[in-house]
Amino acid sequence: MQIGVTKESAPGERRVAATPDSVAALAELGAAVVVSAGAGEAAGFADGAYVEAGATVGDHTTTAASDIVLTVGHVDPGLVRSLRRGAAIVGFLDPFVDAELMRTAIDSGVTALAMEAVPRTTLAQAMDALSSQTNLAGYAAVLEGAGAAPRALPMMVTAAGTIPPAKVLVLGVGVAGLQAIATARRLGAVVHAYDIRVETREQVESLGAKFVAAPTESADEGGYAKEVGADTQAQQHAALAPFVAESDLIVSTAQIPGRRAPLLVTDEMVSSMRPGSVIVDMAAGTGGNVAGSAPDEIVVRHGVIIHGPTNLASRVATDASRLYARNVLELLKRAIVDGELVIDLDDEIIGQTTVVHDGRAVHPRTVALVEAQ
Ligand code: NAI
Repeated sequence: MQIGVTKESAPGERRVAATPDSVAALAELGAAVVVSAGAGEAAGFADGAYVEAGATVGDHTTTAASDIVLTVGHVDPGLVRSLRRGAAIVGFLDPFVDAELMRTAIDSGVTALAMEAVPRTTLAQAMDALSSQTNLAGYAAVLEGAGAAPRALPMMVTAAGTIPPAKVLVLGVGVAGLQAIATARRLGAVVHAYDIRVETREQVESLGAKFVAAPTESADEGGYAKEVGADTQAQQHAALAPFVAESDLIVSTAQIPGRRAPLLVTDEMVSSMRPGSVIVDMAAGTGGNVAGSAPDEIVVRHGVIIHGPTNLASRVATDASRLYARNVLELLKRAIVDGELVIDLDDEIIGQTTVVHDGRAVHPRTVALVEAQ
């Protein structure tokens, strides 16, 4: 069995799906590993390090001839078409949105294992790439905001005077939000945070931040927030407005999976902020929590600098790749039996992660996507 590691093709993507450590572990599972030349370079892993770990370095054609091809994301349909029938591809494949890619996998007879579809259960925790990458993204969001801000985050007492600590507001306290709070606290900011789920208050406080008294509700049975109505949204805006006006930096991460991001900061609220204040809207790629934010753009409105980065984990590509490679390795450890990939659709993890197999969509949401075409 041959496993191939691609060089990512998406613009700005610095991560890689396998590291020298994970390559060595894959070899122990009985695989011959081929790494595309330069695949790990932007993440700090040289070709030579992969060779030392037991891999060979090849070109696109040798990598694509593998039984299992490992990618990070934004996969080009052309890559899937270049794989042989019966091969498998692993990565962030956008399986509930990217109909073209899913259709290509179906038509090419390629099995698709989507990291987004890994169940978020205790058993699958070590394979949960969404969490590992979002955690780092929350950290990177604060650094991006701090870098763009014309003021310092910590309090500083100097001979020339005292600089007060910056005020940071974190909206949405899931994986990204919690790490954003922790990072802003480490940088010495005074942090306020808000989430619609009442359960998050304690987590916010345990990180040394203050919870904003705006409407809260209990999560649904799955632990997720429920979509809020217009009345609740108006109450949120009213409660958040004074905190928004006072903030030097806002990091927004509010989201319900598969839905448009809720609008938490209106244009009027943006206009109330001091010029030079910064907003990093992590939800810009799914509609935005902040009026005026745009994916992968820096917009200045009312003197406020609004960033909408969509691939923050790539900014910390070395660690993001290490964690991602580990997630992929753990998934493959479960799927590789006696040196062969076994797609057991009845397995509680492999069954859910496999979105296309044997020329058909097998995940209900992917089935719905391709049928809607
Ligand atoms: P998550 O689901 O763990 O957290 C989102 C939080 O938003 C939840 O705690 C939820 O209760 C809260 N929320 C939902 N609706 C709300 C509302 N109306 N008001 C207040 N809070 C509300 O999600 P995660 O993994 O932390 O991701 C957060 C966002 O960041 C998502 O939009 C995700 O797509 C994005 N993301 C962006 C990256 C980037 O590079 N820009 C990288 C990774 C994630």
